[in-house]
Amino acid sequence: APLKVNKILCIGAGYVGGPTCAVIALKCPHITVTIVDLNQARIDAWNSADFALPIYEPGLEDVVRQCRGRNLFFSTDVDKGIREADLIFVSVNTPTKKSGVGAGFAADLNYVELATRQIAAVATSSKIVVEKSTVPCRTAESMRTILEANSKPNCRFDILSNPEFLAEGTAISDLFSPDRVLIGSLQTPEGKAACASLAGVYANWVPENRILTVGLWSSELSKLAANAMLAQRISSVNALSAICEATGANIDEVAHAVGYDSRVGPKFLKASVGFGGSCFQKDILNLVYLSESLHLPEVAAYWRQVVEMNEYQKRRFSKRVVDTLFNTITGKRIAVLGFAFKADTGDTRESAAITLIRDFQSERAFVNIYDPQVSETQIWSDLAEASPTVPAETIKKQVKICGSALEACRDAEAVVIATEWKEFKEIDWKEVYQHMKKPAFVFDGRLLVDAAALTAIGFKVTTIGRPSL
Ligand code: UDX
Ligand code: UDX
Ligand code: ADP
Repeated sequence: APLKVNKILCIGAGYVGGPTCAVIALKCPHITVTIVDLNQARIDAWNSADFALPIYEPGLEDVVRQCRGRNLFFSTDVDKGIREADLIFVSVNTPTKKSGVGAGFAADLNYVELATRQIAAVATSSKIVVEKSTVPCRTAESMRTILEANSKPNCRFDILSNPEFLAEGTAISDLFSPDRVLIGSLQTPEGKAACASLAGVYANWVPENRILTVGLWSSELSKLAANAMLAQRISSVNALSAICEATGANIDEVAHAVGYDSRVGPKFLKASVGFGGSCFQKDILNLVYLSESLHLPEVAAYWRQVVEMNEYQKRRFSKRVVDTLFNTITGKRIAVLGFAFKADTGDTRESAAITLIRDFQSERAFVNIYDPQVSETQIWSDLAEASPTVPAETIKKQVKICGSALEACRDAEAVVIATEWKEFKEIDWKEVYQHMKKPAFVFDGRLLVDAAALTAIGFKVTTIGRPSL
């Protein structure tokens, strides 16, 4: 019979583990949920008296306020957490490898392996171990091998794959009503029982027909496939945006018309300055690496092109800025509105804004940056990482971080909208215009603002996926 889960541990208090397990605690008051992390500062922030949580996510604070200290706990004591739990989510980071075999493509599974070895070393009773991090296909198999090789008598480990599909910025509503929950297990009686235990946790708030149970490898591949196909939609629409700019078609109209076909669907067809985030590029590169290791070079090339199109879109956009500003931005001041990879998050991983600003810097422009959520420290560290050969003082001379959109736009020649924050739609564009150099340019990389209204004010507006005027 499936084990009834009373105590859950989550290893990794990041963007995935934190919100996911906080929502489990909210929806399952009878389960004690502990989230552990090696990073003391991160745990302190989760535990802070004023709820200054380490990640910004609409609705998250409310969930943590309801559960923390009741059945939700944050700690750095990983061993104690392991000993007490019936079910353990492994939700540690899996960045793209920076060196060694598969550098630039393969996932760095070091953190997953270390966490798995720690579970094996510390556990004194049987556990269900759930792989939650995005990982390449067959990682669960490696975890199983490590656990089995190191387990003690009377200690059995069942491995499940349970990829998370939440999107940042909407994590809490995605978790409250997920399109689906996917659980992969071995198709043995024990594997199926473990799967039923985890399904029982989700059944506290997710309708049963949305809980899909599949084999381990299908589950792992589905996560990579879902992200690859979502990213592919954006690269497809972005490729079409280049044709629109060259022909006079309008990408909004094209995407709308295409999306009306129920086989295509209307969502996720918004042209942009390029997708970012911790998942899309990483997961596609994982898929490319996997395809190559399986001797499927055509498949690898197919998916690789989705990432290449995204790089092209970013390059194309910065070039359009330079071209429009009379072929030079040297010494000119450019305001970049938005630094996060999308609205409603403070996360900057792979944000297109970083690439654009690096391009502007290398043209020796001055850049003013404003983002409502990203911290100054984060911006400086991202810019330093993007231009490793440029000394920090040079970057600080060229870049200014501002406290408001208005301040960023003051005395600028051009405004570049890099993130679709709602507040950029609502700023007083008339006032912005008064304080800018003339002609005043706006480059809308997110199809955010009303180009006709801005043109009426006097701006020269360039919009992605529309021809230049
Ligand atoms: C994504 C997946 O959506 C989620 O299911 C998975 O669990 C993790 O990866 P996330 O990266 O958090 O989530 O955000 P998402 O909303 O998918 O946006 C990714 C990037 O694509 C952002 O930079 C966004 O601005 C961009 N995007 C999205 C577009 O450019 N156009 C669109 O139509 C949609
Ligand atoms: C297509 C478009 O669907 C239609 O809107 C357009 O007007 C003309 O082109 P058609 O070629 O007649 O229509 O048939 P369609 O059902 O789209 O199938 C095209 C091919 O794709 C077929 O060979 C079909 O077998 C194949 N297909 C379709 C798949 O292999 N898998 C699928 O999931 C769907
Ligand atoms: P994600 O977006 O996948 O959630 P994050 O980087 O936001 O990724 O979070 C992963 C977290 O996992 C980090 O806070 C990191 O400190 C933590 N972590 C990594 N390895 C371990 C480990 N062995 N034990 C505990 N925490 C870990």
